[in-house]
Amino acid sequence: MTSNKFNSIILVAALGVATFACGSKKEAANQEDYGTPTEEATAPVTAADAITQGESLVKASDCKTCHHSVNKIIGPSHTDVAKKYEFTKANVEYLAGKIIKGGSGVWGEVMMSGHPDLSQADAEKMARYVLSLDGETEH
Ligand code: HEC
Repeated sequence: MTSNKFNSIILVAALGVATFACGSKKEAANQEDYGTPTEEATAPVTAADAITQGESLVKASDCKTCHHSVNKIIGPSHTDVAKKYEFTKANVEYLAGKIIKGGSGVWGEVMMSGHPDLSQADAEKMARYVLSLDGETEH
């Protein structure tokens, strides 16, 4: 009897469990202070801010050609406008629309020129400034 002995020695490579000491990943939370953004476009505008900004916008625009704060010139004084209207959101919107579109017939036949380049937001600030002139606050 011939016995062939096949001795197969299979060396199974041991599973090299490489243990990498993965130091806990410190995702450095980005807490660096880059300073306060200068443009706070999304910051809420307080009522007082809106009036102050409205005043600047009115003074920078052509309103003073026809409006004085207390005397009637070509248009009604802005204080008279403030007395005529209650300081409500609805009136802010109405007057802003009038500032943008212009018009006549409320105070007389003289036409107010429109200001189509103004944004609704800026026109509303102007309206708030005008409506604040009689000391009323928005309600
Ligand atoms: C060309 C002259 C003229 C200019 C410029 C002008 N206005 Fe007037 N404004 C008038 C006249 C006239 C009236 C009265 C209109 C009417 O009787 O409906 C008026 C009315 C108004 C009213 C009251 C509107 C109403 O329906 O009661 C507001 C508010 C006002 N103007 C704001 C402004 C602001 C703010 C500006 C500048 C952006 C401006 N106006 C520029 C002539 C002008």
